[in-house]
Amino acid sequence: MLVLGIETSCDETGVALYHTRQGLLSHALYSQTEMHGEYGGVVPELASRDHIRRLLPLIRQIFAEASLTLQDLDAIAYTRGPGLAGALLVGASVAAALGLALKVPVLGIHHLEGHLLSPLLSDPAPVFPFVALLVSGGHTQLMEVTGLGQYRLLGETVDDAAGEAFDKTAKLLGLGYPGGPALSRLADEFSRTGQSPRFELPRPMLHSGDFNFSFSGLKTAVLTLVNKHEMTPQSRGAIAQAFQEAAVEVLTEKSLAALAKTGLTQLVVAGGVGANRRLRSNLDRRAEMIGATVYYPKLEFCTDNGAMIAFAGAMRMESGLEPGETEDLKPGRFTINPRWDLEMQEIGPDA
Ligand code: KG4
Ligand code: ZN
Repeated sequence: MLVLGIETSCDETGVALYHTRQGLLSHALYSQTEMHGEYGGVVPELASRDHIRRLLPLIRQIFAEASLTLQDLDAIAYTRGPGLAGALLVGASVAAALGLALKVPVLGIHHLEGHLLSPLLSDPAPVFPFVALLVSGGHTQLMEVTGLGQYRLLGETVDDAAGEAFDKTAKLLGLGYPGGPALSRLADEFSRTGQSPRFELPRPMLHSGDFNFSFSGLKTAVLTLVNKHEMTPQSRGAIAQAFQEAAVEVLTEKSLAALAKTGLTQLVVAGGVGANRRLRSNLDRRAEMIGATVYYPKLEFCTDNGAMIAFAGAMRMESGLEPGETEDLKPGRFTINPRWDLEMQEIGPDA
C-alpha cells in the first residue's frame, strides 16, 4: 500500500511517499525558517501562502524521485492538526482534492502522533508499549503509548513548551530565530571550553511528584541574569549552558520517573528538541543506568516532516483505525483541527 504524506502545520512544507512493505520511498522538505527569521517568529499568513507555493512542486518531486505516478497511490495522509489554521488548510485541501480525483481514501493525522511514531521509521525501532517524550516548539508531553491510537497523557507543560523556552532564551541572548539549535551549539561550545563564569538556574518542578513541566520561570531567571551581567561572549555561553543543563535535567528525570511509574523500559523521544545533543547524551546515560533503552527519530525526522505523516497514515490504513472522525474518508470532505488533544485520538474498532 502506497501512502502520500503531507505536513503543513507550521513553517515546514513536508511530503513523503511511504510503502507499507518497501518502507520510505522518497521525501522532501521545504523550511520557511529564513523567511520568518526576518520577523523573529512565524507569521501565519506568510506561512500559508508559502505552503501554497511549495506543496505541489514538492509532491511532483517525490513522485519523480520514486519513479511513481499519482495513479500508484492507495491513500493520502495529511496533518489535520494541531497547528496554524491557514497552514493546515493548504495541506488538507490539496489532500482532499487529490483524494477526490484519484478516488483514494484521505486521512487527517494528528501532528503529534506523527512525531511520536517517527522513531518507528528507524532501525532498530521500538515496539509497543513505550513511554514517549514529545518535545517540540508547541508541546511538551509525556505519554504512555500502548498501541496505535492508544495514548495516555502522563504529564505536560503547564506553561511554555520546551522548544519555546529554548527559542525565547535564545532570543534574550540575541541568537535570532528559531534559536533552539543555536542556543544548543553555544551551550555545547561553552561546556567544551570550560570557561567561567558559571551560572546555576532552577530546575522547575523537578520534585513536583508528577509528570508536569514548567519552563516559563526558567526563561524569567535567564532574563534576570541577562539584566544583571554584561553580555560578553563568555557570559552568553555560560547562560546558554546553564539554561540547557536545567531544561535537560528536568526533561531527563521526569522521563525516567515515567518509565519507573509505568514499568516500561523503552523511551521514545520525538519533536524538534529531540535533536538536542545534550538531551540525547543525558537520556542515554541515565537510561542505561536503569536498563532502559531510548529511541530517537533520525535527526532529519526530529523536526516537522512529511515522512512521519505518511507513516502514521500507512499504519492507520493497515490497522483499519480511522483517525478520530470519519469525515475525511468521504470524498472531497476534509476537516482541520488547529487545537486537538492527542488523547482524543483514542478511537478504534473497539473503542
Ligand atoms: O517539532 P518541531 O519541528 O516543530 C513543532 O512542531 O513545534 O520543533 C521545533 C522546535 C523549535 O522550538 C526549535 O528551537 C527546537 O525544536 N529545536 C531544538 C533543537 N533543534 C530544534 N531545541 C534545542 N536543541 C536543538 N538542537
Ligand atoms: Zn512538530
